[in-house]
Amino acid sequence: MLIFTDLKCGFAGIGLETAKDLARRGARVLMACRDPQRGQKALEAVRAEATGGASVELLSLDLSSLQSVRACAAKVLALEPRLHILINNAGAVNVAHAPTKDGLHDTLQVNFLGPFLLTVLLVELLQRSAPARVVFVSSSYHRFARLTPDLLDYPRARELHAVQVYCLSKLAVVIVANELSRRLKGTGVTVNSIHPGAVNTAIFRHFPPWISLFFNAFLRIFMIVTYFVIDRACVTACVMAFPIV
Ligand SMILES: NC(=O)c1ccc[n+]([C@@H]2O[C@H](COP(=O)([O-])OP(=O)(O)OC[C@H]3O[C@@H](n4cnc5c(N)ncnc54)[C@H](OP(=O)(O)O)[C@@H]3O)[C@@H](O)[C@H]2O)c1
Repeated sequence: MLIFTDLKCGFAGIGLETAKDLARRGARVLMACRDPQRGQKALEAVRAEATGGASVELLSLDLSSLQSVRACAAKVLALEPRLHILINNAGAVNVAHAPTKDGLHDTLQVNFLGPFLLTVLLVELLQRSAPARVVFVSSSYHRFARLTPDLLDYPRARELHAVQVYCLSKLAVVIVANELSRRLKGTGVTVNSIHPGAVNTAIFRHFPPWISLFFNAFLRIFMIVTYFVIDRACVTACVMAFPIV
């Protein structure tokens, strides 16, 4: 299994909760993180929850680098005889609009192109391991996007608001997941995209502090009103992944 997750000061992300949940079920969990130190903390947190022979390992993956994605996929292919569940969880809303080393918009590459490349590189392994499941963590924000060619054009994408690029990247995820699902029909590999719910995580940390505080206050209130807690934030992804766990 492959999960993207990480551990941040004061916040727990959805990926971390997903990894804990799968480790509690005795799964072999590969967590792919970009920051080795935070990844190590996440690894310890997930290992502490593991039961029933679960094994939890850490892989290095920076989704804003196509080279890193290829290296991570190569490692999985070299080390893992089977892959039953691929959960593409990582996501970002980068306000800096910085281009990646590959010359693409960073939010677009992290949310959509990186996970898509990784999935394509692992699809044969998933097929050989069938029944298998791919879960793309998208967002209901995809509804606010209209797909335009600007998305792949870095200088043009830079003119868009960070939230607009986020919405576009999440719409691209939904479209690609649907198409992949159609192409893999009959192979035993199921592909879904999900909205995890509104969860008080550090997803808005790249915004100016007052905007970030405002969004997090909103998410906190939403979670109080709906009795939604962080460790339930992984439910949608796990429900999509479970049937074969
Ligand atoms: N929270 C919500 O209300 C909500 C709603 C709808 C959808 N979602 C989606 O849910 C998913 C998880 O988000 P979250 O709320 O748990 O936010 P989060 O706590 O910020 O988690 C996002 C994760 O993505 C990782 N990431 C960012 N850039 C990366 C890169 N270049 N390479 C590898 N990993 C990278 C982050 O790692 P670092 O710590 O290293 O940055 C972090 O662990 C995202 O896809 C998000 O769009 C969240």
